[in-house]
Formats: sequence, C-alpha cells, structure tokens
Amino acid sequence: MSRDLYDLAVTVSERAYAPYSNYLVGAVVRTRDGKVFEGVNVENAAYPLGVCAEKSALVKAVSEGYRPGDIAAIGITASPCGGCRQWLYEFGIDEVTFLNAVGEIVTYAAAELLPDTWDLPPA
Ligand code: THU
Repeated sequence: MSRDLYDLAVTVSERAYAPYSNYLVGAVVRTRDGKVFEGVNVENAAYPLGVCAEKSALVKAVSEGYRPGDIAAIGITASPCGGCRQWLYEFGIDEVTFLNAVGEIVTYAAAELLPDTWDLPPA
C-alpha cells in the first residue's frame, strides 16, 4: 500500500487551483524506476474544461517519457472519478491508494476499480 504517496498527495493538494468547487485534490504517481510526479486539479470558469489531479500527475509522467506499464503506484486524496478510473486502467497501475467516501485509506489495483473494462482490440 502506497501510504507514503497518499501522505504526499495531501501536501500537494494545497497547490490545487479549484476556485469553483473549493475541493482541493492532490495525486502523486511513482514510476517503476522510482521517479515521482505530482498533480493537482485545475479548474476553469468553463466548468467541464477542468482537469482532475490524477490526470495532471499522469500527464506529467507521460510528458517525461513514461508509458502504460511504467507506473507502479498512485496516491490520491479523493476517490477517483469514473473518467480517472479509465485513465488509471490505461496505465495498468497495481497500487491505487486513496481516501474513500467513508474516510478510510484503501488500496486497489486499477483493474479492480473498473471491472469488465472495454479494451481496444489488438492492432
Ligand atoms: N476531482 C479530482 O481532481 N479527482 C477526482 O477523481 C475527483 C474529482 C476534482 C475535479 C474538480 O476540480 C473537483 O475535484 C470537484 O469535483
């Protein structure tokens, strides 16, 4: 369980830009080779254009060259939304640790958070 990533995500969440919801979310990913990338939610006056913390952390990792299979774990200060579960699944993350709706810190594999997932057929 990536409790350390969750604890770091709590600190990182202070940097969220969430003036519309006032719901500050932090997410921290760790790559299999030990790099850490931090993300926060970034909202916009056009509400649907906002970005979740999980996505902003994963985008940083991808922009530095990491790919699905390279991410070992993520800690999140919120229960991931449906869209973020699809992103977590894409990256095949083994340990997804977050604060659930009843206040427990829990860890699941990404595939457990999105069962019977749709996949692209092999090319
Ligand atoms: N949010 C995240 O950053 N991650 C989630 O998985 C749940 C929701 C953000 C989006 C929005 O900025 C705010 O939390 C309220 O929904």
